[in-house]
Amino acid sequence: MKMSSLGLTFLTLPLVVQASTAGLWCYDSQDPKCGPLYWKDITKSCGGDNQSPINIDRRKTQRDRSLDEISFEGYDQAPAGRWKLVNDGHTVTMNLDGASAAEQINITKGGLQDTYQALQFHFHWGDFNKNGSEHTIDGRQYPMELHLVHMNTKYKTLSEAKGHPNGLAVLSFLFKVSEMDNTNYNTIVAGLKNISRAETSVDLASTFPLSNLLPNTDSLSKYYRYKGSLTTPGCEEVVVWTVFEEQIPISKPQLNAFVNTLYFKTAAKLLKMTNNFRPPQPLKSRKVYASKDATISRSPPLAANFLFPLLLAFLTGQLSGLC
Ligand SMILES: *[C@@H]1O[C@H](CO)[C@@H](O)[C@H](O)[C@H]1NC(C)=O
Ligand SMILES: *[C@@H]1O[C@H](CO)[C@@H](O)[C@H](O)[C@H]1NC(C)=O
Ligand SMILES: *[C@@H]1O[C@H](CO)[C@@H](O)[C@H](O)[C@H]1NC(C)=O
Ligand SMILES: [Zn+2]
Repeated sequence: MKMSSLGLTFLTLPLVVQASTAGLWCYDSQDPKCGPLYWKDITKSCGGDNQSPINIDRRKTQRDRSLDEISFEGYDQAPAGRWKLVNDGHTVTMNLDGASAAEQINITKGGLQDTYQALQFHFHWGDFNKNGSEHTIDGRQYPMELHLVHMNTKYKTLSEAKGHPNGLAVLSFLFKVSEMDNTNYNTIVAGLKNISRAETSVDLASTFPLSNLLPNTDSLSKYYRYKGSLTTPGCEEVVVWTVFEEQIPISKPQLNAFVNTLYFKTAAKLLKMTNNFRPPQPLKSRKVYASKDATISRSPPLAANFLFPLLLAFLTGQLSGLC
């Protein structure tokens, strides 16, 4: 996930300048020399033991029946005022924190100990031929991923929240390709062409209920929960992650609008903003919990897909040796 509030900029800038003469972090699609493998040299925490994203192996998740329905407050109303869509040089972000306190959008319950306020949402995607989600499920990567970033209302500022392991809660939704356009995404997709260049923004003509962006309401009780980090430097390990099982449908042309319209922030030449995802990080000693209604294991994990043919080949080899 990507946070680009002032708090983060001020916090990380001195670190970056100190640690790296090669410049700021980037994705491999921009320049492998500052890609995800090198982030830990820029910011130590990117090499920590609780990093995100991860692969969710559904055979290894643990059922937690206290993970019930999340309460979405203010998700079904279009707030008054304007939303600003920003190309920040790494992704497309919609800032939500402009609303008045009365219109604050929150999540609570679903195993969350506190109330978390929505700050912004943004996306990660691939290119014309490759999927680009950050989280994978049973080894499968999806075409795109939506992150809705929320801050614990116990804390006053983003930088304060980043000092605590429960400081942020991010909702993650994976996408699937559908035949028909998802018309709920029309406003965002139409806005992309106004922010082709890095560090440009556009005020969208209208706000809309955040719930428009999500899959069917009755699927939202199926999710996976684990403790992790921001998926961009500084990689702070302060995020309670919720990865939903049900995917958001989006058409190929809508997906291609992300792949083909936007440009990274690069000094030398214009570079299409593609493959802006961090690959899965080691789970280490962490556990992934499955909500009350989530699927624990449907398809065999990727390893079985590899190992079974190997085993078969081995047995066949043995047999042919016998004949
Ligand atoms: C979100 O939480 C804040 C603080 O607890 C509250 O004032 C606000 O009314 C909540 N928003 C909604 C839509 O319930
Ligand atoms: C990419 O996404 C598509 C659509 O969801 C899926 O069918 C396919 O298996 C994915 N490819 C990989 C390599 O994970
Ligand atoms: C966005 O771009 C379109 C043309 O691509 C233009 O007609 C429209 O006025 C722009 N909107 C804003 C708010 O700049
Ligand atoms: Zn993200």
